[in-house]
Amino acid sequence: MESFLPYVLPLFLLPLSLYLVSFLRKTGPTESKNLPPGSNGWPMLGENMEFALSGPQQFVKERMQKYSPEVFRTSLLGEKMAVFCGAQGNKFLFTNENKLLTSWWPQSMKKALLFPEFIESNLKEVSALKRSFHHDILKPEALKQYIPAMDSLARQHLDSDWLPNTVVKVFPLSKKYTFELACKLFLSLVDQEDIKKLSDPFTLVTNGMFSVPIDFPGTAYNGAIKGGKMVREELMRIITERRKEIVMNNETEGRDLLSKMLLVRDEDGNFMSEMEISNNIIGLLVASFETTSSAVTAVMNYLAGLPHIYREVFKEQMEIAKSKGPNELLTWEDIEKMKYSWNVARESLRLTPPAQGAFRETITEFTYAGFTVPKGWKTFWTVHSTHKNPKYFPEPEKFDPKRFEGTGPAPYTFVPFGGGPRMCPGKEYARLEVLVFMHNVVTRFKLEKAIPNEKIVFHASPTPAHGLPVHLHPHEK
Ligand code: HEM
Repeated sequence: MESFLPYVLPLFLLPLSLYLVSFLRKTGPTESKNLPPGSNGWPMLGENMEFALSGPQQFVKERMQKYSPEVFRTSLLGEKMAVFCGAQGNKFLFTNENKLLTSWWPQSMKKALLFPEFIESNLKEVSALKRSFHHDILKPEALKQYIPAMDSLARQHLDSDWLPNTVVKVFPLSKKYTFELACKLFLSLVDQEDIKKLSDPFTLVTNGMFSVPIDFPGTAYNGAIKGGKMVREELMRIITERRKEIVMNNETEGRDLLSKMLLVRDEDGNFMSEMEISNNIIGLLVASFETTSSAVTAVMNYLAGLPHIYREVFKEQMEIAKSKGPNELLTWEDIEKMKYSWNVARESLRLTPPAQGAFRETITEFTYAGFTVPKGWKTFWTVHSTHKNPKYFPEPEKFDPKRFEGTGPAPYTFVPFGGGPRMCPGKEYARLEVLVFMHNVVTRFKLEKAIPNEKIVFHASPTPAHGLPVHLHPHEK
């Protein structure tokens, strides 16, 4: 009899749980409220499966049509969630930061990334210091000095990883470039062995961070947790060593992001702890790695597939190249001339946005578009409710950089970096990296896709299914 129990039990448990769910649905405290229209999906599972199967873009589009173009209800990552849509929805979330809403990240992500001491704690105070600091070190004036370093690394990277080949896979190579650049600019790491000590475990983190959070040996999520621990240990070693160097050499000027973090003090004159600095650097690496690699890859994809766009970018970039000596590195003034190229990159960010949107948590109950959003619910804003909406972008599937000329898109419609106080602080860094990389590739090669209609799939960011293999045709000198 006992051996039957595992098989028979679910037969009882399923109807019981369905009954409980429907009972709770009928009698729950939110029942009497006019909640946004939508579905809670399956018990326990919510609508995670539908989200994974149809992809974020289709998921949002279908529900905007079925329920409401303004706001709909769903259940994702075990949380009740209101998805805000359209320019108005974006504006509402971006302008109510810290009034109605606050930042929120899934527990599973925090567990992979942060020190255990920080997982349960309230990160708000740390975040406030961190946010103003991020904006400070990543603002255009601070980044100008890094342009020659970005250019020199791009040259080295193309010499060693592109030039010797006739076909290259763009996505893995742009990930390599992005990670090496971050190691150089954030930590002054240039030795390949030192970089590998961080990049190997970091790959485990990014591969498993958004997977089903089952922490069991062999699962991607388990790999992410183990990788996160190794990254933190390696970073702590680097940070401790650097602190000693700063004291020994009496340094007062930060030579990279790490030194700046070690030297900054909060309002009470306290330095950041080593753990906080490590959390900060991991945050920056995670926020910049997949997103920027995906952005670089998407631009290369359009340049390889759209010869008329490539021609215009080539013209603009060659004019800049010709105005300089062969070994003269790019400067801020050169970047400012890359107007058409930036419009191409922006159109690429509209059509293939690397980040899908972001979560918040409501700190009080409020009403939006006639619907009540209870306290404690999670919210989500998403690029998918505006970027391909014909109301804001006529012929939305057409690649047309001219959309960004003049006043450009209407406010709150083009939001690859979000908006309001939490807007991505790394957007200028990303702009510089993409433009410097474009300059180097276009002035050296013409690209031709090896797989003409390669599918785009969603991992953490949109990715060409086969890594975007391209034939390289070097320009004649
Ligand atoms: C094309 C590349 C990138 C895209 C599309 C992108 C997009 C985004 C988006 C959508 C958010 C969320 C905004 C919100 O919460 O509403 C964000 C946050 C953030 N990004 Fe980026 N990002 C990119 C590159 C970078 C880079 C290069 C860095 C750092 C060097 C960076 C650092 C951050 C940080 C620290 C946050 C969290 C800000 C906060 O919570 O206050 N990002 N990014």
